[in-house]
Amino acid sequence: MLNELPLFPPEASTVAGRVDALFWFMVAASGLICLLVFGAMLIFVLKYRRRPGNEVAQRVSGTIPIEMSWTLIPLCLAMIPFVWGASLYLDMARPPADALEIYIVAKQWMWKAEHPDGQSEIDELHVPIGRPVKLTMISQDVIHSFYVPEFRIKTDVLPGRYTTTWFEATQPGQYHLFCAEYCGTAHSRMTGRLFALQPAEYAAWLQGGPTASPADQGRKLFQQLGCVACHEAGIAPNLQGLFGQGVQLANGQAVIADENYIRESILEPTAKVAAGYQPIMPSFAGRVNDEQLLELIAYIKSIGPQSAQPGQPANLPPRPGPEPSPSPASSGGRTP
Ligand code: CUA
Repeated sequence: MLNELPLFPPEASTVAGRVDALFWFMVAASGLICLLVFGAMLIFVLKYRRRPGNEVAQRVSGTIPIEMSWTLIPLCLAMIPFVWGASLYLDMARPPADALEIYIVAKQWMWKAEHPDGQSEIDELHVPIGRPVKLTMISQDVIHSFYVPEFRIKTDVLPGRYTTTWFEATQPGQYHLFCAEYCGTAHSRMTGRLFALQPAEYAAWLQGGPTASPADQGRKLFQQLGCVACHEAGIAPNLQGLFGQGVQLANGQAVIADENYIRESILEPTAKVAAGYQPIMPSFAGRVNDEQLLELIAYIKSIGPQSAQPGQPANLPPRPGPEPSPSPASSGGRTP
């Protein structure tokens, strides 16, 4: 009968079982500790209660072994979910290199997805099963959160900064897509449907009227906006092979050319000027929207080395200042 309560959605991704296992371990461990603490409390309350001939408690001291054990044993116990959770978090924060990349733009109150072949959809997301899918996400207005309970993934979608998440669906079917961050009047209606399809069905779905790919549209924009006049004429850095590489800046610092750096360089070109170049590029803030920015980035990626991974410089001095937490700056919405 309990099975009929829809408390737990099906496990439909490769990490879902691992997330649930950790969850149930935490529930069991908390329950056990709760029993032990309340059990001991009850026993001591009865055993050491006030009675004739034993009215006043005695001061007890010098119990180092007991104090050590009640510190060290819980410490060791607490390390189990920490190590378990950290390894799961790292796996969930780092998309596999061969993942299919889909762009998500969130806005009040809808989800827009753009596939590598140019197919786009609203409040629906079609993905193949048995293949890692990486989502690169941004919001046009306020903070939203991309949440698919059946996949056990939830990642904030922020204005002005790309976040990523990834999953690999294991079961074909239709799943819920929720916004899990209160984002205004129609937050509760900012829902969608996620369709996990057999690879052949996904390929057939993609056939259903693709337009130009994001990279192709980015290439067109790159020409329309006049970027070529400088970037392919030596006045500004050549962008061929740039993506994922280290960039030496005029101020002596170095950055990785990831999604967030390219976005900043388009909207606020003087923020991080590449060494050896003049800060002459005009800002494109207000002239390109979030979807166009993603297309420009897709174009720059497409002319970059295929193997490049943001956050893994080939030969670069260590970045000044604190390192970003386990995930590269461009991925993983949450820091632990
Ligand atoms: Cu978008 Cu809540």
